[in-house]
Amino acid sequence: MTAQDLEKLLQEMSLEEKVGQMVQLSPAVYGKDSVITGPAGEVALTEEKTALIGSLLGTGDPEVIRRIQKEAVARQPHHIPMLFMLDVINGDQTIFPINLALGCSFDPDMAERTASIAAREASAAGVHVTFAPMLDLVRDARWGRVMESPGEDPTLNARIGEALVHGFQGENVGEPGRVAACLKHFAGYGAPEGGREYDNVELSEQTFRNDYLTAYQAAVDAGCRMAMTSFNTLNRVPSSANRVLCRQILRGEMGFDGVLISDYAAVEELISHGIAADRREAAKLAVEAGVDIDMMTTCYLDNLPDLVRSGEVPEALVDEAVRRILRLKNDLGLFENPYKDADAAAVQNVWCCDAFRKEARASAPETFVLLKNKENLLPLDVDTGDGSGGGEKILFAGPYLDSHALYGSWSFPNHPEEIPTLRERLEQRGDGRFLYARGCGMLPDKTVLTDHPLSDLTPAQNVEAVDAACRLAAEADRVVLFLGEHIRQTGEGASRTSLRLPEPQMELLRRVSAVNRNTIAVLFTGRPLVLREVEQLAGAVLCVWRPGTEGAQAILDVLFGETEPSGRLSMSFPRAEGQEPLYYSRFQGGRPRFSASDPKAYRIGYIDEDYWAYHAFGAGEGYTRFSYSPVSLSAAKLCGADPDRAGTDASGAAAQITAAVTLTNTGRRRGTEIVQMYLRDRTGSVVRPVRELKGFRRVTLDPGESREIPFVIAEPMLRFIRLDGTFGSEPGLFDVYIGHDSTTDNSAAFALV
Ligand code: NOJ
Repeated sequence: MTAQDLEKLLQEMSLEEKVGQMVQLSPAVYGKDSVITGPAGEVALTEEKTALIGSLLGTGDPEVIRRIQKEAVARQPHHIPMLFMLDVINGDQTIFPINLALGCSFDPDMAERTASIAAREASAAGVHVTFAPMLDLVRDARWGRVMESPGEDPTLNARIGEALVHGFQGENVGEPGRVAACLKHFAGYGAPEGGREYDNVELSEQTFRNDYLTAYQAAVDAGCRMAMTSFNTLNRVPSSANRVLCRQILRGEMGFDGVLISDYAAVEELISHGIAADRREAAKLAVEAGVDIDMMTTCYLDNLPDLVRSGEVPEALVDEAVRRILRLKNDLGLFENPYKDADAAAVQNVWCCDAFRKEARASAPETFVLLKNKENLLPLDVDTGDGSGGGEKILFAGPYLDSHALYGSWSFPNHPEEIPTLRERLEQRGDGRFLYARGCGMLPDKTVLTDHPLSDLTPAQNVEAVDAACRLAAEADRVVLFLGEHIRQTGEGASRTSLRLPEPQMELLRRVSAVNRNTIAVLFTGRPLVLREVEQLAGAVLCVWRPGTEGAQAILDVLFGETEPSGRLSMSFPRAEGQEPLYYSRFQGGRPRFSASDPKAYRIGYIDEDYWAYHAFGAGEGYTRFSYSPVSLSAAKLCGADPDRAGTDASGAAAQITAAVTLTNTGRRRGTEIVQMYLRDRTGSVVRPVRELKGFRRVTLDPGESREIPFVIAEPMLRFIRLDGTFGSEPGLFDVYIGHDSTTDNSAAFALV
């Protein structure tokens, strides 16, 4: 449809029809089941109203989508097709590592490939929009949703975020195999006080703009077609009623011109927040704020027509929202083909096809982070190569040995029982020297996790299971324990005050490591954990997050050295829960930091723990070692505001500086290093972080091989929101750090003049 035809259609629509486009409900209104992703509320609609609904969320079933679409197009007075939206977060049917793990890969290209596969699978089912990427900056591991974000760093999140948008949307959302992306949750949802789910967010203007907006902006710049408001209040205003946030900042300053949808029931929640007296006022506030679609309530449906007729809401506000929604439908090609790619027969060839599973297997090791590997316990050396078959005896145990739930929350595979378990994959290797034991239950018996009472092994059964594992551990050369959080311990509504492994699993680790010091812990987690005790007990610790469909195979590939774990932490791991929120990019402060080895009074931090993270942002090992040369700089002075001055300036300042290191693989295996470049602005009109990631590169080298790794530094990289609120750089001294992680001291200095 041309733009004029679209405008003509808008003019012909009745007010009720227009408001219908601004409402999203679940397939329940069409009598169909769906994935429930929020508090279930019954919505009873008349047939007449149902016919006007513009979009549905929560189904990825091609049959259901085709059937509803057929009915919807027939019933809508202007035959306007419906938009189908779904949370395709870690993949659709082929499930990939969670986003926090994608952050650890520092590999935007890989992230893009996973998103484009997810788009292929979802669009084949008839889905038009995915509620992804989630780009909330996350710095508090207690929050359950840190698993959905690439992590704590603005630049890393921005690079992964824009890659995900490209992966979902391609060049044009109308192309086959593409879906529209929806950045979320606008804004600041990742910073709830105390890590408490849905709780208040208070962020200074500086912090919000310098750190929290960066990744959302990158997604907007990448052409993301939709955005979602967040549940939280930001500086005392709930996002779905926040005109400054949605209109002035998102649309005005950031240049977003797509569709803005509320989060699940967030419009009606304006009442509980205490900012709207009733549903009518909630609808008014949200539409004035610029929320185009009301997700999962009928506040708009029941109130907007009357609000317009009474003159309380200008019809122009409704028109601008509907225009954006129709434009998205048109760009998806729905007016020509309301089913887009929906094809129940085709999905059989697309869903979980070999090529996609191969990508799932290859991507996961890039996200695994090896946190400890004492005496090279890993990789496992079972192949003696002498044909005698007399290698090491290895015990595999723990609650994840037999689990199919190797994926993260927000994954909805149709056949979770078909996801191979670790035991199944180990048995396929067919090695007679492998021993197996359950070891313990996942959680203490009768744990209640958000409405879900979970029964596991009773205390007596746990003792028995641990005893049995210990007997086998005593005769094994090495032990691999598959441990971790329960899948429901992370994700929405899963904040925790404890960042420890469940107690039955700690008991297993304590007892097994006492009889076998070659114990390796493989950890499934959706958040940073407190690992001091785990690392005192286990000789090697491998964090595999929630790796997805091919997780078991990918883990074995890494354990047996067929590939290496090449992820680095995208969130700091704390020493204790009390350190949260925790992130590397902090301010210097006026005092030195507290350290237990030099416990002086009046220092920044606590008196019972070191100030620093247990594992820093960017940390992680591989199976080889790398050395770095000192940082070299192509010039000592960088030209500030006017790059045209470069070269002609009497001071000899350059338009850009190349900072480089020579990286050498000093180990005995081919391996990958993530070279990280951080900048520090020594002084500013507002205090500046001790360092900020500004560049990174995955580099794979053979043993003995060296390579020069250059990073270009230009003035725009030094900009920030200054004291006067403007965005720009300030002259002065800067440090460039290039090294293995965020603690590197390998640095050189230059001046911005
Ligand atoms: C609530 C979640 O906050 C959001 O991330 C999700 O996309 C919607 N529900 C829809 O399921």
